[in-house]
Amino acid sequence: MPIIAPSILSADFLNLGKDIEMLNNSKAEWIHIDVMDGVFVPNISYGIPIVKAVRKATSKILDVHLMIVQPERYFETFRDAGADIITFHYEASMHLHRSVALVHELGMKVGVVLNPHTPVNVLSEILPELDLVLIMSVNPGFGGQKFIENTYQKVKTLKQMILATGKNILIEVDGGVDLSNAGKLYAAGVDVLVAGNTVFSSADPKATIVKLLSAY
Ligand code: DX5
Ligand code: ZN
Repeated sequence: MPIIAPSILSADFLNLGKDIEMLNNSKAEWIHIDVMDGVFVPNISYGIPIVKAVRKATSKILDVHLMIVQPERYFETFRDAGADIITFHYEASMHLHRSVALVHELGMKVGVVLNPHTPVNVLSEILPELDLVLIMSVNPGFGGQKFIENTYQKVKTLKQMILATGKNILIEVDGGVDLSNAGKLYAAGVDVLVAGNTVFSSADPKATIVKLLSAY
C-alpha cells in the first residue's frame, strides 16, 4: 500500500494541534514538514520549533523536507527536534555523498529531492545509498500550485533505475497532488504522495486521505 504524507504547510497554524490530532486519527502514515529559508526558495515557512511541537503531538513519521541552502548545517538540529526522515535538494548540495552519509550517521532515513528541471539520471551513482527520492511536481516554495505533467515520465525512468539497484528505495512526489492524478502516479511507480492543499482544504480531510489511498 502507498503512503500519504499530508503537508502541514496548508494546515491551520492557529489550530495546528487540532490538525495534528486529525492526522493522528487518519490513515496518513507520514507528516510532511516543509522548511523554507527564503534563499533556496522564494518563500519562508517555519523551522525547528514547529518540528519540535509536532513531534510532541504525534508518533507518526516526520518527513522533513529542507528547502534551504547548505542543508547539512542543520541535519543534527532537525534530528534533535524529532525528524525521522530528512530530504534535501540535489540543487542545494555540493557534496551529496557526504551529506547522505551524515543523515544516516545521525540515525535518520534520507532522501534527495529533485526540482522539476533536474533529470533523474543525476542520481545514478548515489541512488543505492538512498532510502527515498522525492520528485518535485511543482517548483518548490508554495502550496496549492499546478501539477507538472512531465513528472510521470520522470517517475517511470526513476522506477527503472531503482529496480536495477535491487533495493527498496521509495519514490515520493510533492506538489499539486490530488484525486485526479494520484492513480496515474501510483501506476508510474510512486510509493509516497505528499498532499497539502488537497487534504487541508477538503471539507473532510480524513476521508480525502482515504480517497487518495483508494486511488491505488
Ligand atoms: C512546496 C512544498 C509542498 C507543498 C505541497 O514547495 O514542498 O510540500 O506543501 O502543497 P500542495 O499539495 O498544496 O501542492
Ligand atoms: Zn514538500
